[in-house]
Amino acid sequence: MQEQLDALRAVFQEKLATCADSAALESLRVEFLGKKGHVAGLMQNLRTLSGNEKKDTGQLINIFKQEAANGIGEKAETLQSEALDRLVQSAKQYDTSLPSSKSLGSYHPITLVQRELEQIFITMGFAVEDYNEVVDDYQCFESLNIPEHHPARDMQDTYYLDNGQVLKTHTSAAQNAIMRKYGAPLRAIFPGRCFRNEAVDASHDNTFFQMEGIMIDRDISISNLIYFMKTMLSEVFQKDIKVRLRPGFFPFVEPGFELDINCLICGGEGCSTCKQSGWLELCPCGMIHPRVLGMGGVDTEEYTGFAFGLGLTRLAMMRYGIRDIRDLNAGNLKVLSQFVSA
Ligand code: DAH
Repeated sequence: MQEQLDALRAVFQEKLATCADSAALESLRVEFLGKKGHVAGLMQNLRTLSGNEKKDTGQLINIFKQEAANGIGEKAETLQSEALDRLVQSAKQYDTSLPSSKSLGSYHPITLVQRELEQIFITMGFAVEDYNEVVDDYQCFESLNIPEHHPARDMQDTYYLDNGQVLKTHTSAAQNAIMRKYGAPLRAIFPGRCFRNEAVDASHDNTFFQMEGIMIDRDISISNLIYFMKTMLSEVFQKDIKVRLRPGFFPFVEPGFELDINCLICGGEGCSTCKQSGWLELCPCGMIHPRVLGMGGVDTEEYTGFAFGLGLTRLAMMRYGIRDIRDLNAGNLKVLSQFVSA
């Protein structure tokens, strides 16, 4: 029996050494220690023995059984730690400290122009304000001297929410809140996204950006407005920009103007961009209507002010030579990744 056990032990050790994974180890366990395995078979044979022989052989079989069980247990631990090592090794090949192979992205052209303008106005003492995109009728129209049924509303059809609020049609919608927040005197710009129910084409979109500015103080006049506009535009385009004012009607300013700049393409000679006029319409503006100042809590005996509504989207298109407004909101990375801040 001893010899038989020794032979079995040798086979077991050899097979154990070549077990490469837990599945192979499990079948080895079944082969030797399972219900119908070698050890169970040997135990069966014990019945044919008797007395001391039975006892001694039984002990030998039990010793082997214990050895086999230990061997399998140790091998299981070894296989487990090898698997863990392999996992750690493969994780090490992924170096999280390496720079990304992909492009880091770029700023949207409107963001670039907006930031540039903010910097210019900050140096001129203006605060930069943010405002809601969802506003109520009072903010968007009433507080700007555009009562219900006023024809000026036709130009600004927008998206109405069930609760009567609207997506703001212009950044002017923040004027009232900002006057109330700061009181006079005040200088502030407030860029923002605006929405209108527009038929979309190359130069009209239902979503666009404006940048509003207001300055309220004692003795503010149209000369101040022209000065600030000229300074800002000369900074943006890095050259002296000629401007002109034409009368324009907006219920919240009196007098109201359209500010044109000398065409950047032809320098005023006349070309297709400026429709041969030599001028480009850029920024409606005017002296804030006393009724609007009053609704904003400003003492109209003491203060006057100007306001302007710069088309940020328009300016970005002119600045970067973008011909189709739809490129700006389409999320097309081929287009947008071309703009890198200076
Ligand atoms: N809010 C006007 C619009 O979007 C533009 C505008 C005109 C703004 C005159 C002003 C202004 O501040 O003074 O059509």
